[in-house]
Amino acid sequence: MKTVVTDSIEEAAAYIRAGSIAAFPTETVYGLGADAMDSAAVRQIFVAKGRPADNPLIVHLADALQIDQVAAEVSEEAQGLVEAFFPGPLTIVLQKSDRIVSEATAGLNTVGVRVPSHPVAHEFLRACGRPVAAPSANRSGRPSPTTWQAVLEDLDGRIPCILRGGRSTVGLESTVVDCSTSPPRVLRVGAVSVEALKRIVPAISVLSEDGALARSPGTRYRHYAPGSRVIPVRGIPNPSSRAAFIGLDEPPAGFGMVRVCESIEQYAHELFDFFRACDAAGIEDIYCQEVDERGLGRALMDRIRRAATPHP
Ligand code: TXA
Ligand code: MG
Repeated sequence: MKTVVTDSIEEAAAYIRAGSIAAFPTETVYGLGADAMDSAAVRQIFVAKGRPADNPLIVHLADALQIDQVAAEVSEEAQGLVEAFFPGPLTIVLQKSDRIVSEATAGLNTVGVRVPSHPVAHEFLRACGRPVAAPSANRSGRPSPTTWQAVLEDLDGRIPCILRGGRSTVGLESTVVDCSTSPPRVLRVGAVSVEALKRIVPAISVLSEDGALARSPGTRYRHYAPGSRVIPVRGIPNPSSRAAFIGLDEPPAGFGMVRVCESIEQYAHELFDFFRACDAAGIEDIYCQEVDERGLGRALMDRIRRAATPHP
């Protein structure tokens, strides 16, 4: 299969409307989309990614007003989160409507819903004219792609189309909040901080690793299986040309690759891209400087730990 890379929103949306799949940019990471009401289309996503069939997809909408098309009911708490954070990097899990195919939700009776704020994503979803199921556009087990080049690196020849957009501004995946129960629970920490969520719904809780594992199948899978080993560090280790360092402080000379970030936001923005660059350069150990687990720092540390800890 030839993979077309295009700047044309119309051209990319035509693949979705025709029952095929296409990758598109969002503010968090690039997604790989299919019509969420078409079983055969959604199955192509799982094949292209090599994704386990029991891991549900997020359904993307152009506009929050379309939630009624995909969810059977929206609680008051969910409505509050929608008003505060849509469009943006938040996914809410709701009771699903029958129109969403069971392949998209991996057989669950709930559906994850998100309205991206990225202008190209918005226009693309509008042009598709239907809800679009989309996981991150990486091969299963690789870091989420934050550029179209990273999508191409993983899926060249496996998908028909990539819609080119800039680099994803956030760089980490959306926060997933289960609103099918009350009080809502955070299943995956992400770009919208727990502190910000609590300002809207004070009773919100964060599931422990074990609980999230049971409720959100995706958290069971390792998100990055590097050729390089990821090692979280407090201080700065001794440099080596086979090791890489990313963090907020300037390390001594001697590392094979270095990225010094000016803020937690920039660190989050750079992390997955750095992982890929290290893999490509044959780096053995990637040292990731730990940060305080507040705000976006909590999601950043979650992704670093996931990359460092092999899951079963
Ligand atoms: O930022 C993002 O969320 C990106 C962009 C493309 O929107 N998407 C993304 O999708 O990261 P994915 O498939 O890589 O991660 C989706 C996560 C998984 O952990 C999955 O288990 C969880 O959301 N999820 C989706 N639907 C769910 C549901 N109905 N119940 C519980 N968890 C769900
Ligand atoms: Mg993913």
